[in-house]
Amino acid sequence: MEPINKKMIAKGLSIAVLIIIINILHSQIDPLDISSHILLRELYFLPIILAGSRFGIYGGISASLLVTFLFLPFVLAHHLGIHGNIPGNIMQIILYNIFGIVFGLLGDRQKRQQQKLLEAESLAAMGRAVSCIAHDMKTPLVAAGGFVQQVRRKIADDSLAKKLDIAFEQICRLEILIGDMLAFAKPLNLQYQQGLINRLVEEVVKISREKASLNSVTISTELQEDIPIAEYDQHRLRQALQNLANNALEASPKGGEVIFRTQSRDTCIFIEIIDQGGGIPKEQLSDIFTPFVTTKKEGTGLGLPIVKKVIEAHKGLIDIIQNSKKGITVRVTIPLMQSRGVNE
Ligand SMILES: Nc1ncnc2c1ncn2[C@@H]1O[C@H](COP(=O)(O)OP(=O)(O)O)[C@@H](O)[C@H]1O
Ligand SMILES: [Mg+2]
Repeated sequence: MEPINKKMIAKGLSIAVLIIIINILHSQIDPLDISSHILLRELYFLPIILAGSRFGIYGGISASLLVTFLFLPFVLAHHLGIHGNIPGNIMQIILYNIFGIVFGLLGDRQKRQQQKLLEAESLAAMGRAVSCIAHDMKTPLVAAGGFVQQVRRKIADDSLAKKLDIAFEQICRLEILIGDMLAFAKPLNLQYQQGLINRLVEEVVKISREKASLNSVTISTELQEDIPIAEYDQHRLRQALQNLANNALEASPKGGEVIFRTQSRDTCIFIEIIDQGGGIPKEQLSDIFTPFVTTKKEGTGLGLPIVKKVIEAHKGLIDIIQNSKKGITVRVTIPLMQSRGVNE
């Protein structure tokens, strides 16, 4: 939800004041003046629509309830005589509340769409900037790495050699960062192929075993045997699963276990990566897919944004589920078959 600020309070109050003014006018009119009564009765819709459009469902419902609360005494007081059309007035109250809900839902939807658009625009701008920086850094870095290695081979002094080893390590780290930056920024251009997701998972598990044993973590698989053939970009999906495997291993405590599970249902495949790490606090969940957000000393914060980009390009979903005991389960859902020509 949007944080409350002074402008919002002022807008909310002015809508409430508008309702009260309409109510005062309504209570002042001559009971025989039917046209004014009808006009003011309809005028109540205005603040309800404004509140729903500006403040969403809570705003719409609050305004319609306030109108109901102020209009009801009028209905009860005039249940006899010229305005004694109780069913009509009750119908009117129901309509106020329906309008409150409908315009509230529409307001919320519009806000979500605007937010998505803003996110897409800022991600695209960030992508362009990242791509330029990464391109410009790549060539000098590769050259620097090459020179450091050449000099390192010729140096006999142990302490100097150690310093050059450290320099080379740092250059390698920067190269990984640049690789991630380019993977995040470049358009995907997916190359779909048919294949068995289980095989892809097994490849990722095989590559991850070394990192796992360094961290004293075991990796196991629970793969659905008769998993159907799916259509996906092998290279990109492998990269996404590798990023998720790395995160699970980095989060795992010594002696922990990471499980890769595959399952198919209807027209989808689920790939779950289950770890026993420290989990992700609720307040961090909305940030972890934002580029460069990391809690690790040597993290790039680009692993999950890349995963999200790849999975969404496959028209899939990624969900983070807190495990009942320890750690999280990252669930990737991708459709078995891709419709062509949309992602490219
Ligand atoms: N399996 C996990 N368990 C706990 N925290 C995680 C896990 N996966 C991701 N995170 C959190 O999300 C952050 C962003 O992850 P990521 O985008 O891969 O960047 P990086 O791994 O470079 O930090 C991590 O720094 C970590 O705080
Ligand atoms: Mg990561």
